[in-house]
Amino acid sequence: MSLASALYPALKPWLFKMDAERAHEWTTRMMRISHALGLLKPDALPPMKAVDCLGLRFPNVLGLAAGMDKSASAVEAWGALGFGFVEVGTLTPRPQPGNPKPRLFRLPEHEALINRMGFNNPGIHAAVSRLAKRRTSAVVGVNIGKNFDTPNEKAVDDYLACLKAAYPVADYIAVNISSPNTKGLRDLQAEESIRQLLAALKKEQASQENQHGKQVPVLVKIAPDLDGAQIEALARVFNELAVDGVIATNTTISREAVAGHALEKEAGGLSGAPVRERSTLVIQAFRTLLGADIPVIGVGGILSGAHAVEKLNAGASLVQVYSGLIYRGPGLIADVLRALKS
Ligand SMILES: Cc1cc2nc3c(=O)[nH]c(=O)nc-3n(C[C@H](O)[C@H](O)[C@H](O)COP(=O)(O)O)c2cc1C
Repeated sequence: MSLASALYPALKPWLFKMDAERAHEWTTRMMRISHALGLLKPDALPPMKAVDCLGLRFPNVLGLAAGMDKSASAVEAWGALGFGFVEVGTLTPRPQPGNPKPRLFRLPEHEALINRMGFNNPGIHAAVSRLAKRRTSAVVGVNIGKNFDTPNEKAVDDYLACLKAAYPVADYIAVNISSPNTKGLRDLQAEESIRQLLAALKKEQASQENQHGKQVPVLVKIAPDLDGAQIEALARVFNELAVDGVIATNTTISREAVAGHALEKEAGGLSGAPVRERSTLVIQAFRTLLGADIPVIGVGGILSGAHAVEKLNAGASLVQVYSGLIYRGPGLIADVLRALKS
């Protein structure tokens, strides 16, 4: 067992007594230091077969979901822990502080989190400078969004600015239109809005490809709170515009699974175990509706290897985790990769 996996069960009770965001900052700092000292090693794993997807070669199918490394400050450390890919961000054109604290809450009884971080990030340019110097074999995706004070009518300018800045350093770009914590952002999922946004981004992608001589896939990250008609409309647009991939799903605004919990009324997106089933259903629906050449990345409530297998069986080509890492620690990485091997 690696040092990180061995230490986590002992550290967890202490971390869980700390404010959730402080614990996150402390852990990230410790990871960076441990990595610099050469102490961060993955658990012993069976040899993994690399996976070809999105025109990229992934060392393995497990990725770190967006939001954990918003500033792209620890990609090497995440890679060293065993992740095959790391999605940094969400990044916006200008830096922004996000919502007032507290804005991250644990619901341990449900192995869940509620967050209303609000895209706190150093801005796309700061992240791009870091990524230009990265040294990791993990694939790196850059998740992009709009600033909180950019009206939806101008959202396309923000996404274009981020796409242009990220293109030279990103292995893939994820267009986040599904965070519940930026006012109006999820309205961009409406059929006409998403068609306009994606048409502009696909055009810019082609121009960037010419300029840089490399094809960087553009994926869209969607919410779990979509009904059948909305899913069909989105799939229609994704097929029509030949989007390169779909990431399903973000956090949910539903509180059904945590009804009665003291923190139920906290505004924000719910993640972890309560979103698992819904996210799997959404993956399944998109897999059925999308063309075979548009892969789905499955994320939402993976807390064990079996959960990751469930997502792959639902049609995901790759999977990501966030909340599971908080509740199960870095041992979850080996748990997932072993389950996928067997
Ligand atoms: C604290 C927190 C911050 C997040 N920030 C982002 C973000 O900036 N961009 C994004 O696309 N998703 C963000 N997410 C959503 C996750 O990437 C993931 O889609 C969601 O949490 C479901 O996966 P999980 O159940 O494994 O956590 C965030 C999630 C959490 C818990």
